[in-house]
Amino acid sequence: MKRKNIAAANWKMNTTVQEGVALMTELCAHDLDRDAQVVVCAPATHLYSLGQLSTPDHVATGGQNIYTKDSGAYTGEISCPMLLSTGATYAVVGHSERRAYFAETDEFLGQKAKAALSHGLTPIFCCGEGLEIRKAGNHVAHVMNQLKASFALLTKEEVAKLVIAYEPIWAIGTGETASPEQAQEMHAAIRTFLTQAYGEEIAQGISILYGGSVKPANAKEIFGQPDVDGGLVGGASLKADSFAAIVNSF
Ligand code: PGA
Repeated sequence: MKRKNIAAANWKMNTTVQEGVALMTELCAHDLDRDAQVVVCAPATHLYSLGQLSTPDHVATGGQNIYTKDSGAYTGEISCPMLLSTGATYAVVGHSERRAYFAETDEFLGQKAKAALSHGLTPIFCCGEGLEIRKAGNHVAHVMNQLKASFALLTKEEVAKLVIAYEPIWAIGTGETASPEQAQEMHAAIRTFLTQAYGEEIAQGISILYGGSVKPANAKEIFGQPDVDGGLVGGASLKADSFAAIVNSF
């Protein structure tokens, strides 16, 4: 099975609605590789407006977070039906910033992924190790444990619908990128875990994205690794030119 190449933008908590609309409009004015799935994960306040723009079919929008419940007394949270009603079809789940600043645990993130899937949203499920763990040489075991703990709640059919993003925390927003070899090592380990747990067909079908200081200058080399199927891009996605260049790096 041919896996999808995906270039996902993670705008994080940046841009006003007006700036976001202008950024999306500028991005879509570029000639974007039609074989790549483009996903713009914008602040929830922006998604409806972005959904109203006429964008090419291969450009989708996504949220950066969701809650597990559909509705109710959960002040400040955003549900999957709400996200879907904006036109978004993806949701980032388990970004390291949410794990670190909002104490989201592996188990809770498994519940979030399950909620997203039950509504037909595609989770971009993030994993990754911090610098201390990398220095100690425990990075592969750490990431496998994150995935095992979250995916324990999911059926095989649900796992098959995920997009996974490996984002080493030490490379996020730091300008320091994992080398293509470091990315490939982890992506291959994730693929091996998926093969062992869910079988070859499912493992070969899941797109695994790399995230952490991806920019036009390094995207081609990273995306060229056999188990890297695209990127989750923060800083470099806030400029239309640089994100377009990344989209066109497959
Ligand atoms: P960065 O962020 O590209 O700015 O390093 C990536 C991410 O956190 O998704």
